[in-house]
Amino acid sequence: MAESARMIVEMVRSQFTGPGFIPLHAPTFAGNEKKYLNECIDSTFVSSVGAFVDQFEQQLADLTGTPKSVAVVNGTAALHSALVLLGVDHNQEVLTQALTFVATTNAITYCGAKPVFIDVDRDTMGLSPKALTDFLNEFGDKCEDGTYNKQTQKKIGACVVMHTFGFAARIEELVSICTEWNIPLIEDAAEAIGSSSNGKPLGSFGEIGTFSFNGNKIITSGGGGALVSPKLEWMVKAKYLTTTAKQPHAYEFVHDQIGYNYRMPNLNAALLCAQMEQLEGFIEKKRKLALAYKQACEANNLHFRWERENTRANFWLMCIETADKAERDEILKITNEQQVMTRPIWRLMYKLPMFADCQRDHQTNAEYLEDRIINIPSSVIL
Ligand SMILES: Cc1ncc(COP(=O)(O)O)c(C=O)c1O
Repeated sequence: MAESARMIVEMVRSQFTGPGFIPLHAPTFAGNEKKYLNECIDSTFVSSVGAFVDQFEQQLADLTGTPKSVAVVNGTAALHSALVLLGVDHNQEVLTQALTFVATTNAITYCGAKPVFIDVDRDTMGLSPKALTDFLNEFGDKCEDGTYNKQTQKKIGACVVMHTFGFAARIEELVSICTEWNIPLIEDAAEAIGSSSNGKPLGSFGEIGTFSFNGNKIITSGGGGALVSPKLEWMVKAKYLTTTAKQPHAYEFVHDQIGYNYRMPNLNAALLCAQMEQLEGFIEKKRKLALAYKQACEANNLHFRWERENTRANFWLMCIETADKAERDEILKITNEQQVMTRPIWRLMYKLPMFADCQRDHQTNAEYLEDRIINIPSSVIL
């Protein structure tokens, strides 16, 4: 067995007890999950109106320091809703990164808009402020109502920044560039609940931030997502849009635009309320595991990815950077054969057939990372 793969198998097995298969990220239910689920069933409010939905929305608003959050069925629906709220439509383009999970790009196309791929920073794996500035200086045409792409004459309706694996992108710089060019910024913080930059929670920097509570995330509602915003008015509109655009009325059904049935059911919110109570403890345990991995990797000449100064990562999925693609492929093959689950970072979006014709810049760092980043088992160990 190749040396680095053997070392990774040993390092992971020394942290997780038992001889069997070790998954990448298993959920942990160690709190009030069953109690709240039973309460929810007993109340008969299992669908999308209920006390747990309200309670969760308050918990997330408190965590992110925002006035209000809106719970929805998943992270993709949260992103789609955010783009619709900002007015993104089929005549527009959205700047984003090609190094992301496909949901980011899918949500843009649900609006009929075209993604444009900007390179990431090598250290953060999130959208690069320098690449964004270079792109806008070359193609951006500032007009009264926003910025247009000189090449396509289309308006740039939004910029979606993704915080990869819970590591903070250079979000302060990105916010100031987007403000200068009058482009609304959405943070896809699906992977970044509990992470922060300069003490400020990720998800709370942009016009709107979105989260995912899928089963593979740090905390889960089975399936779920949410939106937050520093501006209360966006969240009032989000609640309305994700509730089939129904005007509040005691009994009449009046809908005055195309809305979506995207609300999170109370049953899922009950699970999530219990998970939220444990989030900080989960992150502390993950940071302990990350530190153990870091020390083991350093002693064995492997590059374990760490957080940048003045940022705090939730270490959702922990990563190793290999020397090259050949080493990456060998580690993936051997570790998976040894029942230690590892995964490569995503294939870049423009390499997928549906996004092959999208405009993009040089993608130097995205290509570099695509060839080298591997996720290793990162579950919360109790
Ligand atoms: C970066 C990113 N964006 C969006 C999503 C979509 O979230 P969901 O699976 O809840 O729809 C995910 C995860 O699943 C993700 O990792």
